[in-house]
Amino acid sequence: MPVWPEVAILSVIMSNDSLLTENAVIDALRTVNDPELHQDLVSLGMVNQVAIDGGKVAIKIDLTTPACPLKGQIESDVKAAVDKLPGVESIEVSFGSQVRAAQQTDLPGVKNIIAVASGKGGVGKSTVAANLAASLALEGASVGLLDADIYGPSQAKMFAVEGKRLMADNDKNIIPLKNYGVKLISIANLVEDGQALTWRGPILHGTLSQMLKQTVWGELDYLIIDLPPGTGDVQLSLSQLVPVTGAIMVTTPQDVALLDVRRAYTMMRKTHIPVLGVIENMSYYQLPDGSRDYIFGEGGASTLAEQEKIALLGEIPVTRHVRESGDRGKPVVVADPESAEAQALRSAARVLAGQVSIQNLMTLPVV
Ligand SMILES: Nc1ncnc2c1ncn2[C@@H]1O[C@H](COP(=O)(O)OP(=O)(O)OP(=O)(O)O)[C@@H](O)[C@H]1O
Ligand SMILES: [Mg+2]
Repeated sequence: MPVWPEVAILSVIMSNDSLLTENAVIDALRTVNDPELHQDLVSLGMVNQVAIDGGKVAIKIDLTTPACPLKGQIESDVKAAVDKLPGVESIEVSFGSQVRAAQQTDLPGVKNIIAVASGKGGVGKSTVAANLAASLALEGASVGLLDADIYGPSQAKMFAVEGKRLMADNDKNIIPLKNYGVKLISIANLVEDGQALTWRGPILHGTLSQMLKQTVWGELDYLIIDLPPGTGDVQLSLSQLVPVTGAIMVTTPQDVALLDVRRAYTMMRKTHIPVLGVIENMSYYQLPDGSRDYIFGEGGASTLAEQEKIALLGEIPVTRHVRESGDRGKPVVVADPESAEAQALRSAARVLAGQVSIQNLMTLPVV
């Protein structure tokens, strides 16, 4: 019996095995696009490591944020592409993260500055800012929160650091407070209650500048700024003080709130702050049977997002749990991370992180 056909088959297997090289895997990864950034993983510099052991392939991908909303999809796309290579027996995909920095923030160590704005007061901007900051920290990002609502600060209460005085280091820089993994600074911890109410113009500008630039933030992936409502002095000062990576707009579904948020949106555009998306807070009330009661109207923010071509980051239900957690000094994403309202806020934080990565990619200098 001639044996040559078996030898031929063996040599095909051997030559297939020899095709399984790091370069072949990297070439396969060139066909996988980041679903949000629409560029391939290799060009984006996201492939950290490829290791081959016989037919076993181990790949480490560096996401552009630990709060990546599309990690699952990236994993399955990578596996599908690499699985096509001959000789592959198993594929292991692990993830790290490397948050991309905005081109410029003017604050050493701070990669991204994100302002949380609204047209109207009382729409839940501070609640959303607190929960977004705590969510990003839960995902493993390094996060700071600056309460820029000089006249009505609320973050010290939401983070249970009321009454704690801020201390300075030897260089007279402010050391931020910290809770739930978030570094925090608020006027409430700097001056007596009510003292800031009379501040206008230069004093306000100077104080905001000090809080931003003379705080020892250390390394931060995201610095969230809780703005006062509307389109006043603080918003203008902020845009003059630092290059803001982007703003998010918080609104409730009522027509009046939407009208005001459009005004705030226009102001952001005029001050050259990119708008990363809109969050609709108090969107609906969840009824016991699981259906939703859109008490303030339905679909307002999503229409705004569509018209202005910005992302709808999330729709957050109105619940007793959200309010009580805030009042008790523990944002709901920390107090009850698996609850429906916490999941909505945590998802919004991931979408936001994705939008920051997109924004940074769009503003990369052309080389
Ligand atoms: N999704 C929600 N469900 C229930 N209560 C909420 C929700 N969001 C915010 N609240 C409550 O609404 C009130 C106003 O919220 P918050 O202080 O965050 O608004 P704001 O827009 O920052 O207000 P201001 O304009 O005064 O700064 C708070 O009591 C808060 O707990
Ligand atoms: Mg507020």
